Amino acid sequence: MSETVIQTNNLTKEFTKLRGISSPRNFFDKVSFAAVKSINLTVSRGEIFGLLGPNGAGKTTLTKMLCTLILPSGGSATICGYDLARQQAQVKASIALISSEERSFYWRLSGRRNLEFFAALYGLSRKRARQRIPEVLEVVGMSDAADRRFQEYSTGMKQRMALARGLLAEPDVFFMDEPTKGLDPVAVRDLHEFIRNQLTAQGKTVILATHDLAEAEEVCDRVGIMQGGRMKAEGKVSELAGDASLADFFHNLIAGPETQS
Ligand SMILES: Nc1ncnc2c1ncn2[C@@H]1O[C@H](COP(=O)(O)OP(=O)(O)O)[C@@H](O)[C@H]1O
Ligand SMILES: [Mg+2]
Repeated sequence: MSETVIQTNNLTKEFTKLRGISSPRNFFDKVSFAAVKSINLTVSRGEIFGLLGPNGAGKTTLTKMLCTLILPSGGSATICGYDLARQQAQVKASIALISSEERSFYWRLSGRRNLEFFAALYGLSRKRARQRIPEVLEVVGMSDAADRRFQEYSTGMKQRMALARGLLAEPDVFFMDEPTKGLDPVAVRDLHEFIRNQLTAQGKTVILATHDLAEAEEVCDRVGIMQGGRMKAEGKVSELAGDASLADFFHNLIAGPETQS
């Protein structure tokens, strides 16, 4: 039997906001809205699981909750057996988040210096960091560019550094939120190959959020179809694509909702 790495139980995130100008008379009334609604998800070790859905579906919110970056407002989850709410430190030590919204690197420092900084932050000893940094630079193909300033890197190189940083502490689970956004086709292919050939070969588990059907089909073993904060279906893309009840979902995902007749 395969080992469960992620398990969520009615995991929910509500945001509250003021009614504001949508209802001028009750401007200051608070309304709550669920960005993620009662998600029940089970992911096994070594799986590449896709969160597939259009913008606003709740993929990033779900990912951030599972990475302990925002607190759930309901339900529970375990990552590698650790409780998301009560064992945050252990959860953090088990995961890496790689997203396309990369603002946390120090742009004036070199790639290598950045990795030294993050290795210390993640609690690697100096000795371990000296060993590990050249390894991860090699793995992502950034050894030659490691001593250039981060700000000089192309989008693809920045993404490689984000991956290198994620690899530093050798976590079990990788969360990737739209990781190929803004990359050229060669860089996209490299990242997909890296996920499929290297990460899963090492028994890593990957949760990949994307609005790109082709990406989900190419990379993911299984996907969860997300829409309006809900998980509508789960399975292999090839199976789900033939499901008549999901025809509108796939149509809108490819063509955009405005073309719906
Ligand atoms: N901090 C927040 N406060 C209020 N609403 C939010 C916040 N973050 C996300 N949302 C809303 O939650 C919904 C889901 O957003 P998100 O998780 O970013 O979706 P996706 O990543 O699938 O595009 C959207 O309607 C978005 O506007
Ligand atoms: Mg998102």
